[in-house]
Amino acid sequence: MNFLKKLISILIIFGIIYFGVTWYLKPDKIKDVESTINPEVLVNYNHQIPSDKNIKLIDYKGYRIADIAYNDLVDMDEAAQKDGVILQINNSYRSTDEQKQMFNDKLISYQNEGYSYEEAYSQTKLTVQEPGYSEHQTGLAIDFSESGNQIHNDQMWDWLKQNAYKYGFILRYPEDKYDITKITYEPWHYRYVGKEVAKYITQNNLTLEEYVGGN
Ligand code: DAL
Ligand code: ZN
Repeated sequence: MNFLKKLISILIIFGIIYFGVTWYLKPDKIKDVESTINPEVLVNYNHQIPSDKNIKLIDYKGYRIADIAYNDLVDMDEAAQKDGVILQINNSYRSTDEQKQMFNDKLISYQNEGYSYEEAYSQTKLTVQEPGYSEHQTGLAIDFSESGNQIHNDQMWDWLKQNAYKYGFILRYPEDKYDITKITYEPWHYRYVGKEVAKYITQNNLTLEEYVGGN
């Protein structure tokens, strides 16, 4: 009996410490959002980024996010944790130079596999936007994934598919929408559009292109 009491006390103390530390480490929300980008902006193979000079970016766990998306991301991260899912960010904001680097690296890897320049270029465009045309350059896009752990990835992607819209994020490149987005299925790529728009797009199974009414 004494042992049981001790065990319960220890568990309670550890519980309090765990929740205390989690609460202390929780990122603060930002109070003054100076929205420098319209979260509904369409950026795709056909629409360049408006400008990446004035976007206000905030650091979130080492990744740069547009300020307008920040508070909802904090809430989404916390909600996932409560459901036992750790959302692992892999990439968020990219500058034009970083996008260029990513595009060129992919292009070269296809050429090294034996593709001609034109073939390699077309292959690259299936998964990476040309510099200036990636929504990662707006700070509104986030790639989730923990490469190498497929079970964890699948768990994240399932959770995000069910819940991301509640926090203003949409699955941007769904499986059956290549004809519209011109990007193949990316279960990891989520795009902030704001809560109302995200709910509408998700519940009606639309892409951002369809929502804004043009490619
Ligand atoms: N991978 C996505 C489509 C991008 O390059 O923006
Ligand atoms: Zn992405």
